Amino acid sequence: MEFRLLDLINMAKTHTKFVCQACGYESPKWIGRCPDCNEWASLVEEVVTSSKTPAKSGALATYSAPASIASISAQGAPRTSSGSGEFDRVLGGGVVAGSLVLVGGDPGIGKSTILIQVANHLSLNAGKVLYISGEESAEQIKLRSNRLGISSAELYVASETNIDAVEHYVDTVKPDFMFIDSIQTMHDAELASAPGSVSQVRGCTNTLARIAKSSGIPVFIVGHVTKEGALAGPRVLEHMVDTVLYFEGERQQSYRILRAVKNRFGSTDEIGIFEMREEGLVEVPNPSEALLSERPAQGTGSIVTATLEGSRPILVEIQALVAPSYFPSPRRTCSGVDYNKVLMILAVLEKRVGLSLGNKDVYVNVAGGVRIVEPAADLAIALAVASSLMDCTPDSSAIALGEIGLAGEVRAVGQAEKRLREAARLGFDRVFMAHSSAARVAKDIKTNAVGVNSVRSAIDAAFSGARQHRGEETAK
Ligand SMILES: Nc1ncnc2c1ncn2[C@@H]1O[C@H](COP(=O)(O)OP(=O)(O)OP(=O)(O)O)[C@@H](O)[C@H]1O
Ligand SMILES: [Mg+2]
Ligand SMILES: [Zn+2]
Repeated sequence: MEFRLLDLINMAKTHTKFVCQACGYESPKWIGRCPDCNEWASLVEEVVTSSKTPAKSGALATYSAPASIASISAQGAPRTSSGSGEFDRVLGGGVVAGSLVLVGGDPGIGKSTILIQVANHLSLNAGKVLYISGEESAEQIKLRSNRLGISSAELYVASETNIDAVEHYVDTVKPDFMFIDSIQTMHDAELASAPGSVSQVRGCTNTLARIAKSSGIPVFIVGHVTKEGALAGPRVLEHMVDTVLYFEGERQQSYRILRAVKNRFGSTDEIGIFEMREEGLVEVPNPSEALLSERPAQGTGSIVTATLEGSRPILVEIQALVAPSYFPSPRRTCSGVDYNKVLMILAVLEKRVGLSLGNKDVYVNVAGGVRIVEPAADLAIALAVASSLMDCTPDSSAIALGEIGLAGEVRAVGQAEKRLREAARLGFDRVFMAHSSAARVAKDIKTNAVGVNSVRSAIDAAFSGARQHRGEETAK
């Protein structure tokens, strides 16, 4: 009898449920705070009308019997080039058949632009492409395409938000590749909740996953990102797709960085660098050169370091400005580097080198909008700050490489030779780096390695050289 009663209660309640819009947690009644992700007021009532057959709502529509792994043949994911070396690099070497790729990024960063460019290339070289936009009309897509010089007979576009219609188009057009812009505008008529809600996003992604997996069509999906940086309707989505790419960059600057956040078919270390131009996103094959192109020839507070992005060394300029403070507690502002890391380096400069920064505002910036997470940039940050504070111009043909410890010591960084080769290629002839690794640098590298033990000795080496340099210049 008790069971009966429970069943009755459940039946009465199944027609609406409350779903956390941040993580997808479901509850039969409203609660103020999601017990799963701790978000406040994130639960929204959604109507449950779905009587979908399990085959339709699951991602795996086609049942296949378990098979011995030895008997399964896989030709090693066949990949198709997207037409952009940078895009391929981030995907792990090209587009994988049947994969689901989510592309996220801030509004207006260029998601639609890069995807229509990739769609165009695929349609010219690899097969039929279906491009569905729920955000723009066919005319708007055409206008953008005109600007980007895109007009391919094999590129089919539709302005559509109904996922069932999309499925119908797949049946009629029979594309080899598919693009959805964006998942938040798609809706499934069988689910009563509004487009963009977690249930809709999940339902539509399920349908797309089913299409991708059953037909082998790679599907690219645009996803919008909330202020906090999470893809809206998010955690749920990230688990359902094979690859999550994140498009980032300062909108005021022209450089855009494409990064893999998750990749079932490749590494997540690689980045692709693009430049936004009138004619669309153009890949930047030589990022170091591009990022250093606007560096002032002579100036205080600027020093170059070599950071590794995936397998690729990239030279970036670290800038610092130290100015008298008019605030009771001086400001420390940084972009592109970790705030706490900068505080630590400032403390080392005060305590171990004896520089006085207590009444100074300090600004640290990585030129070009790149974000550096690895500690190899520590020494460059310290030298840039010291240079601005002491008003000394460092040797502009030198780079700095090293992690700084709390005792003020300079430590070795990984894969130093790769970084030095890139520095030598761009004409840098000196590098300040940890003593231990400077001795081990291969003979064929042209950059002259200057070994330093501590931040203090690095500052001495960097600025005595600079003064000499200036001395020579005035002597001439
Ligand atoms: N005529 C133009 N010349 C140069 N750049 C342009 C031009 N028109 C648009 N852009 C660039 O394209 C960007 C918009 O690109 P796109 O529409 O691909 O972004 P999105 O990420 O898809 O945006 P949304 O989130 O609104 O869909 C603009 O922010 C601007 O930088
Ligand atoms: Mg768009
Ligand atoms: Zn939640």
